[in-house]
Amino acid sequence: MPGAADGPDESPQALIERLDLRPSALPASEMKGWEPPTKVVARLLSPEQAAQLAEVAPGVELVVVTSEAEALAAMPGADALLGFCSDELLAAADSLHWIQVYSAGVERCVALEAMQNGGFLLTNAQHIGSPALAETSIALMMALVRGLDLYYRNQLKEEWVRDIGSPAGTFMELGGRTMLVVGLGGIGTEVARRAHGLGMRVIATRGSRREGPDYVDYVGLPHELHDLAPQADVVVNAVPLTDETRGIFDKAFFDLMKPTAFFISVGRGASTVTDDLVAALENGDIAGAGLDVTDPEPLPAGHPLWTTPRVIITPHTAARGDRGQERLFAMVRENLRRYVAGEPMLSVVDVARGY
Ligand SMILES: NC(=O)c1ccc[n+]([C@@H]2O[C@H](COP(=O)([O-])OP(=O)(O)OC[C@H]3O[C@@H](n4cnc5c(N)ncnc54)[C@H](OP(=O)(O)O)[C@@H]3O)[C@@H](O)[C@H]2O)c1
Repeated sequence: MPGAADGPDESPQALIERLDLRPSALPASEMKGWEPPTKVVARLLSPEQAAQLAEVAPGVELVVVTSEAEALAAMPGADALLGFCSDELLAAADSLHWIQVYSAGVERCVALEAMQNGGFLLTNAQHIGSPALAETSIALMMALVRGLDLYYRNQLKEEWVRDIGSPAGTFMELGGRTMLVVGLGGIGTEVARRAHGLGMRVIATRGSRREGPDYVDYVGLPHELHDLAPQADVVVNAVPLTDETRGIFDKAFFDLMKPTAFFISVGRGASTVTDDLVAALENGDIAGAGLDVTDPEPLPAGHPLWTTPRVIITPHTAARGDRGQERLFAMVRENLRRYVAGEPMLSVVDVARGY
């Protein structure tokens, strides 16, 4: 296998192992509603991808689209839809069984009435953006603990100011400090791996089981969130947005965090009660926040988060990386191969659970 460990030239099996992509327990051919597909509608990211998809779907009509309007026109007779999920598309479908979305977050797709009732097979892009998201999470944490946000503000004013005081949490050395990862899935695990590499102790919660890698000291369940919060020097939100996680980072949670602790959020904005976060920052209940996701999005001009001290914001771009699109396409192509062959599918979403 050519290429670096994280490079684009890897085999599907290497990608599955490295990103810990989960195959379904049942093969596609044993799933209710599966039949050998005859027509697949696919949103492609580049023209060369059409031929690469066709290779793994011999005899299947592959309709390549670049917009939702084109997909809508192609829906009649389609067995699979890759790259879109909307009410209009599901309403226009007459033989659709499999939907592959290109994002990890599926809160809008699973909320559609047709999806709730439809018996569709839904797969997503869980774990695919994890390396980039983990690097952004660590970058936000590092910037805050080293006070880079404060120095950068001074740089913009061309001011050489060595004494910035001792803002809470700043210059905290990370060795032996505790990170709480909320949502130890694809992203959470990659964040945990890097934090452990920096000498941090990592604790976590996940939704349905206590499994975790060796480098995570403790894996709790959702009801333990408040017990774990006081231990954390850094909290990372990597949890999907579901009925259970909406608003879990609220006043009660921030009150339990140390005043020297930082909050990093890369999951979804609506897991956080924004007004409570702003209040916690203003009152000094927490030391600062690194936010890739906010509620609302886009964050409007004039919103207090823009100007609250010790806040670094990236505009929902943490997943961007120079290898992400290739990983996404490799996974989608492998899933199409598996679907056509009737094999177990990767990254199946539990529609009722919401992720
Ligand atoms: N900022 C961005 O650009 C960006 C990009 C990609 C994804 N995201 C967001 O990040 C989320 C996670 O992505 P992923 O690839 O890591 O997905 P994932 O692999 O499905 O991981 C989700 C994890 O969250 C856990 N979880 C679910 N409910 C929980 C709860 N109530 N409390 C604690 N943990 C809970 C799950 O636990 P179990 O496995 O035990 O059920 C699972 O470990 C996505 O859903 C998406 O919203 C953001």
